[in-house]
Amino acid sequence: MHIYGHDNLMEEDALDASLYHANCLDVMDALIDAHPEGCFDMIFADPPYFLSNGGITCKAGKMVSVDKGAWDKSQGANVNHDFNHDWLSRCQKLLKPNGTLWVSGTMHVIFSVGFAMQQLGFKMLNDIIWEKPNPPPNLACRTFTHSTETILWAAKNDKAKHYFNYDAMKQENENKQMKSVWRFTAPKMDEKTYGKHPTQKPMALLKRCIAASTKAGDVVFDPFCGSGTTGVAALGLQRIFCGVELEVEYVELAKKRMVGAYKKANVEPSASETICNLEEERC
Ligand SMILES: C[S@@+](CC[C@H](N)C(=O)[O-])C[C@H]1O[C@@H](n2cnc3c(N)ncnc32)[C@H](O)[C@@H]1O
Repeated sequence: MHIYGHDNLMEEDALDASLYHANCLDVMDALIDAHPEGCFDMIFADPPYFLSNGGITCKAGKMVSVDKGAWDKSQGANVNHDFNHDWLSRCQKLLKPNGTLWVSGTMHVIFSVGFAMQQLGFKMLNDIIWEKPNPPPNLACRTFTHSTETILWAAKNDKAKHYFNYDAMKQENENKQMKSVWRFTAPKMDEKTYGKHPTQKPMALLKRCIAASTKAGDVVFDPFCGSGTTGVAALGLQRIFCGVELEVEYVELAKKRMVGAYKKANVEPSASETICNLEEERC
């Protein structure tokens, strides 16, 4: 995928992926010009939560700042809502007629996102609760421990005939209908081999969203792609991926993760080959 005025940073030609170091609003405007009827089967968006305002949390038993970076600072409810409306309206234009949008967020942002989606005429499909079995303890002891995030799933509009892989979801849930409460731990160390992102999503969560709402060969977009979790999950499930990220350090991380996952799947020797090589070295 080429977007006029933006360089695709993915150098691995064999990968069905495009990655842009840019403001997603600019990239989406260029894409809308090139594809006025829409070009994505699915969009997963994990936007800024606007919670980096000097608070504290607990990490590995220590008190640390909750601040994630300048991109996550709140500019007040109205400006935050205008921003959510701006990127969501572009996502809506970029969805194919039957495409769907997933948006994750905490209480700091999800109500504005949901309201903007209602204003824009998205058709709400589900509000998924992601329950974290191992949340950080609540240091202030003035509220319940925060242990969930919400993921809204919506179709482009009321006319859309969205795709839902009901059978695959049922099969994943011991042959019972999959409920809208999902339990996933935070990403483990083996998902952080190439570096860390402060709000990295678990791979299993992204794989479920993608498997539920797309088929092999479909095109998945992530406007706030961070460490590239959506890209790695999409490519692993044989989908095509396009992502945008504002911060250069996360663009580099996303690129490393996608190329690394591709090499692992295609180049790394199989277990038997590894044993053979060791045998040769011993000789
Ligand atoms: C909540 S994080 C996404 C994390 C991602 N889901 C992952 O698993 O790594 C949001 C990301 O959006 C980026 N961002 C913020 N504003 C942006 C914008 N206007 N355009 C593109 N990226 C943006 C931030 O730098 C941050 O990496």
